[in-house]
Amino acid sequence: KKDTSWSGRFNEPVAELVKKYTASIGFDYRLAPYDIEGSIAHARMLSKQGIISAADFSAIETGLLEILAEINAGQFEWSLDLEDVHLNIEKRLTDKIGDAGKRLHTGRSRNDQVTTDVRLWLRATCQQVIAGLVNLQTSLLDLAEANFDTVMPGFTHLQVAQPVTFGHHLMAYYEMLKRDISRFEDCQKRLNMLPLGAAALAGTSYPIDRENVAASLSFSGVCENSLDAVSDRDFAIEFTFAASTVMMHLSRLSEELILWSSPRFAFIDIADRFCTGSSIMPQKKNPDVPELVRGKTGRVYGHLTSLLTLMKGQPLAYNKDNQEDKEPLFDTADTLLVTLEIYADMLRLPVVENGVVVKAGFTVNKENMRQAASEGFATATDLADYLVKKGMPFRDAHEAVALAVRYAVDQKVDLSDLPLAKLQEFAQEIGDDVYAVLTLDGSLNSRNHIGGTAPAQVKAAIARARKLIEK
Ligand code: ARG
Repeated sequence: KKDTSWSGRFNEPVAELVKKYTASIGFDYRLAPYDIEGSIAHARMLSKQGIISAADFSAIETGLLEILAEINAGQFEWSLDLEDVHLNIEKRLTDKIGDAGKRLHTGRSRNDQVTTDVRLWLRATCQQVIAGLVNLQTSLLDLAEANFDTVMPGFTHLQVAQPVTFGHHLMAYYEMLKRDISRFEDCQKRLNMLPLGAAALAGTSYPIDRENVAASLSFSGVCENSLDAVSDRDFAIEFTFAASTVMMHLSRLSEELILWSSPRFAFIDIADRFCTGSSIMPQKKNPDVPELVRGKTGRVYGHLTSLLTLMKGQPLAYNKDNQEDKEPLFDTADTLLVTLEIYADMLRLPVVENGVVVKAGFTVNKENMRQAASEGFATATDLADYLVKKGMPFRDAHEAVALAVRYAVDQKVDLSDLPLAKLQEFAQEIGDDVYAVLTLDGSLNSRNHIGGTAPAQVKAAIARARKLIEK
């Protein structure tokens, strides 16, 4: 008795454990809508080319659309015996419409079918990811706008370096996400090629029309080598790399949010709904979401390593190894999409109506940020630049200011607390116009060029970003 679509050749049925081991239905069922879309396009072409009859095509199309409705209604029973999504759907179709169903697979193999399905799914997923990235950018822009002139210490080596605005700092992440969007757009371009027609590996002897199928599935072209078509998984790797890069960016921001929300910094406060408490320490409010984003970044990197390793030893063309591409790919997409959604909400400003907060949001402790910026000699570079403008060579200016900073550290005061006579001991060029230079706002406003941290530049950067997003 024939128990699968290919068992004619075999003397004994597949062992139960092997069935479980080799089946992919437990995860590839989510390709069903794309499998059906691809099958209808393939069958339409077969009938147009006279390979199957118009009546058979019509029965196939109607049958597949009914199956799609059954799946969407949760009425479809997936069977492990039928291995994967492709065989499950084909069997149901044949049960429904008889011989016409058995003709669907003419000129096709599961090898070109599965990669077509994954490409269709991934194309739609890239669209969702791009929408998620834009949504997160919007949260960043709103927050940056509300903080375009909020002073904070800018860090290098996590030591106070120079004052920046918090808006400027946030806009750095906007730029990262802008590059991320272009990576997914780029990934979409390369994945949008039709593998169908490659059949198992060598093409097919039927007079197929691949361009017709490509056009009806909105692919921009066909894969030009049948061996490559069935064995290429570059698109999965590219997607997972682009996803890893987004996660890396968000992990860096998470690390900052974790630091800044620590009471030692107290720069920001994350709304309670993104945090949890401790079962033992009553005072705790833990930044769980940023911590998990940082943690899940490792998980996505793992998927990238899995996929690269999956492909490295495979001879051409299709090997069953390729079935292992799906779980890392699906989990990457799921992890990324939910991370983008939750992050966009976490960065959202509080919603205030008539002066009352009706929905908590991300809050910024501007006083603490400014205080921290004023404590670490953040304007020392400005003092050196001031001396250069008075004619001193930069290296000498650097040395003079370093000595002044060492003195101020010993005295436990800021540079701007030193009286003029004291400052002049380090460089006689210093006049009483120096105090304007030593202020945080003077320092910020002086960096007034494209890409600089001056509040006016931050505003302009936000305006440019909003224009780009509208497009
Ligand atoms: N479930 C398989 C996969 O995901 C479909 C292709 C199987 N092809 C084959 N010749 N066994 O890769």
